[in-house]
Amino acid sequence: MCGIVGYLGDKEAYGIITKGLERLEYRGYDSAGLALFNNNDIELCKTQGKVADLKSKAESAGVIHGNVGIGHTRWATHGEPNDQNAHPHYSNSGNLVIIHNGIIENYASIKEALEGRGYQFASDTDTEVLVNLIEDIQIKEGVKLGKAVQIALNQVVGAYAIAVFDKRKPDEIVVAKLGSPLAIGVGEGEYFIASDASPFIEYTNNAIYLEDEQLAIIRRGRDVKVRQIKGDKQVMPYVQELQLNLEQIEKAGYDHFMLKEIHEQPKAIKDTYRGRLRINSGIIKMAGVDNNLEKFLNAKRIIVVACGTSWHAGLVSEYIIEQLVRVPVEVEYASEFRYRNPIINQDDVVIAISQSGETADTLAAIKLAKENGAFVFGVCNVVGSSIARESHAGAYTHAGPEIGVASTKAFTTQITVLTLMALKLAKAKGRLSESEFHNHLVELETIPDKVADSLQIDAHVKYISSIFKDATNFLYLGRGYNFPVALEGALKLKEISYIHAEGYPAAEMKHGPIALIDEHMPVVVIATKKGHYEKVVSNIQEIKSRKGKIIAIVTEGDKDVKKLADHVIEVPETYEGLSPLLTTIPLQLLSYHIAVMRGCNVDQPRNLAKSVTVE
Ligand code: M6R
Repeated sequence: MCGIVGYLGDKEAYGIITKGLERLEYRGYDSAGLALFNNNDIELCKTQGKVADLKSKAESAGVIHGNVGIGHTRWATHGEPNDQNAHPHYSNSGNLVIIHNGIIENYASIKEALEGRGYQFASDTDTEVLVNLIEDIQIKEGVKLGKAVQIALNQVVGAYAIAVFDKRKPDEIVVAKLGSPLAIGVGEGEYFIASDASPFIEYTNNAIYLEDEQLAIIRRGRDVKVRQIKGDKQVMPYVQELQLNLEQIEKAGYDHFMLKEIHEQPKAIKDTYRGRLRINSGIIKMAGVDNNLEKFLNAKRIIVVACGTSWHAGLVSEYIIEQLVRVPVEVEYASEFRYRNPIINQDDVVIAISQSGETADTLAAIKLAKENGAFVFGVCNVVGSSIARESHAGAYTHAGPEIGVASTKAFTTQITVLTLMALKLAKAKGRLSESEFHNHLVELETIPDKVADSLQIDAHVKYISSIFKDATNFLYLGRGYNFPVALEGALKLKEISYIHAEGYPAAEMKHGPIALIDEHMPVVVIATKKGHYEKVVSNIQEIKSRKGKIIAIVTEGDKDVKKLADHVIEVPETYEGLSPLLTTIPLQLLSYHIAVMRGCNVDQPRNLAKSVTVE
């Protein structure tokens, strides 16, 4: 939530900051702002709206020069999205300026104390309180900016990635992090600051990822100095070389990142199993599992913690792992798990699934699991993310950057990793024979091509979308492995088209939701051949008798459902356990086309942000 960017070097900072903010808009986009050091002063421009609005305002105001600056794109927490609450925020003297991603939980009491000393506030934000606390410490204790930031951060409770600069020391930016991500790009005589590496990837491949509770002082012509916020210990910064390239974070001719990411799935799935799926040697290689095999084999229970789409991938894994490995699996919303005093045993394995690796609830859930002695395995997409670092071991999905707020390739690649794990464990436990194991690997290897085939039906899905784009409600039904896919299909439609949609297990329909069905209700039913087919056909009959409009996802060559459904979308045949990787494709396309036809902002749906780093 919220994206931060900064620059200190010899170039004009304006273009670097605004382009960087555009790349980080997935993190929040209700307001944006920037501050540049120019003519010995801070020039600041901010506005409600998107980075495009900021650019036109800044360009007409002439706030475009300076080679030191910071910028912010906001997802509102404290205070509604408006010009005043947009970042950056000045301190009362106007000497300091700050950007912040996170929440200062005890801001109200600090604000009250500062008000008592005459400080005034122009916004409703917690961030403006923090910058004034820093200023107050600077004045009272006569310390340098870095020390004042450090003392202030020892007084706050909450989460932050911040960048602060002082117009009296314009060759220095102080940054710090706890709970929210912060990367420092190290170029030739220049430094970049950002919530992820995308804003600086065309300038440098070298980055320092700050750890929680670290503060860094970035000075022109000097090495970055990093120290612990608590205890003041100096830390040697680790400069890592990034694998990211520019092409991966651009739209490559697609209208939206979401569409690009949907179409990237054949490659993303292949990248997920590349090097792991070794059919000729009859093994699956996963270092994180191999090195901890005993933990998995001795586990009495697996607990999956995740949120949103990642939680749906976790639900699919419950079916796969219980079927293949025969170990009980519990799938928990991380936000519930962390607060309900769950029973966690030392022989539990906790799998945390997260695309971003930064989701606050999932991070807190794994910390709780670790405190209780469980072994934590992270399934993340973003390399080096907080959840990846906090886990005892893990496996990356290797899906490449996912920028559209609606998760697509993250979902299918998470299922791919979890399937690989399940197959590996099933083999290690002797639950699958050599030939069954081999057949699964061979079938898994065909999935990217089958996903590519499923994408061929795009024009047909677009046509169906045009018929239902004005519906006000949708039902999504599936059974077994495809029940979580029904939930995921409904979530995709809700979040990007703002149509109310519910996912249900098909057989549960008669216990309530069937009352909703009439001639105005589109019902998307996943009715593939392998997976309680006859039972789902009966459910379709029940919908038809009540005049519901049926859009069925069927296996290629299906005859029975075709006779009943208003529209059918075919996907290739595969093993039942792998079918979610195919049935989810038309649902992603359906939500995409409906959202586009309704004029919705697909990549930046209202009220949402890509990574939810607040609870
Ligand atoms: O980064 P994570 O996978 O931890 O994110 C979890 C959810 O916030 C995320 O899946 C969200 O539900 C997406 N907007 C769904 O498309």
